[in-house]
Amino acid sequence: MHTVFTSSSKMNDLIREDASLLLTITRFGLALGFGDKTVHEVCREKGVDVATFLAVVNYIYSDFKSNPAQNGTISISDLITYLKNAHSFFLDFKLPLIRKKLIEAIDDSMSEDPYKNMILKFFDEYEQEVRKHMDYENETVFPYVLQLCEGSKNPEYNIAIFEQNHENIESKLSDLRNILVKYFPSQQPNFLLNEVLFDLSDCELDLDRHTKVEDHLFVPMTERLEKKHTMVRQEIVAPEKNESLTDREIEILTCVVKGMTNKEIAQQLFVSTHTVISHRRNITRKLEIHSTAGLTIYAIVNKLISIDDIKAVIE
Ligand SMILES: [Fe+2]
Ligand SMILES: [Fe+2]
Repeated sequence: MHTVFTSSSKMNDLIREDASLLLTITRFGLALGFGDKTVHEVCREKGVDVATFLAVVNYIYSDFKSNPAQNGTISISDLITYLKNAHSFFLDFKLPLIRKKLIEAIDDSMSEDPYKNMILKFFDEYEQEVRKHMDYENETVFPYVLQLCEGSKNPEYNIAIFEQNHENIESKLSDLRNILVKYFPSQQPNFLLNEVLFDLSDCELDLDRHTKVEDHLFVPMTERLEKKHTMVRQEIVAPEKNESLTDREIEILTCVVKGMTNKEIAQQLFVSTHTVISHRRNITRKLEIHSTAGLTIYAIVNKLISIDDIKAVIE
């Protein structure tokens, strides 16, 4: 059974237990030189959410056996920062470094040119695939989730679309390792090529962990956020089947035709502007009337308001 790290664990102990956790630590923006500081102290100094940090660290350290997605205190925006930093690490640091070492290693060998070109082409195509995958997450998925955190949801998208199409990106790296191990025609031991193989295997494991954090931590958290958003909307939005206006909607309709702004209505009824807007959307949907002039006619015809009440507005 793995130790579970807590906020009072020494940062140094995390790295001593599992050196690969250094990758996780760095992606939270925490730099070396921890002394005897605890997780809590280091995170607080750098403004990192401790619960999110511990959830990711313990999840990886337990070899993905713990279930951090149950932890309601995780900050999804901090988790997104972590994932984005991981993307930059792979695209701007790790893969270019492997490519550089790979060129050196295959140049150093006695192999024929066609092999070198084919191997490099394979690597470059792979790098492009990873870039496309991560760009999609950075530019589509993360902004969608951050917007959801702010309380507004893009109706065209949901996290299930991402979940269903989210592919493993590390398997091609094991193909490259196999090509090099089994078929690379070397005449003598090539230490540089060995280094590349170690790097490929590290990167493969790292990418696999990254994908697991996305699938089993980020996706369930986003699903919960989507569910919460739907519940809030259902509270505000009246049931679809009831097409007559509720008392609250009549009250808001009356205010609208009197010429009051959303802010004024919100203040008068002690609700948020967001709630007023939701009610107005409902009124429009139910009555199929979009303009204030149209709503005024509806209100007068249905005796919700008298002409005298709106004299100041129509004059
Ligand atoms: Fe990712
Ligand atoms: Fe991904």
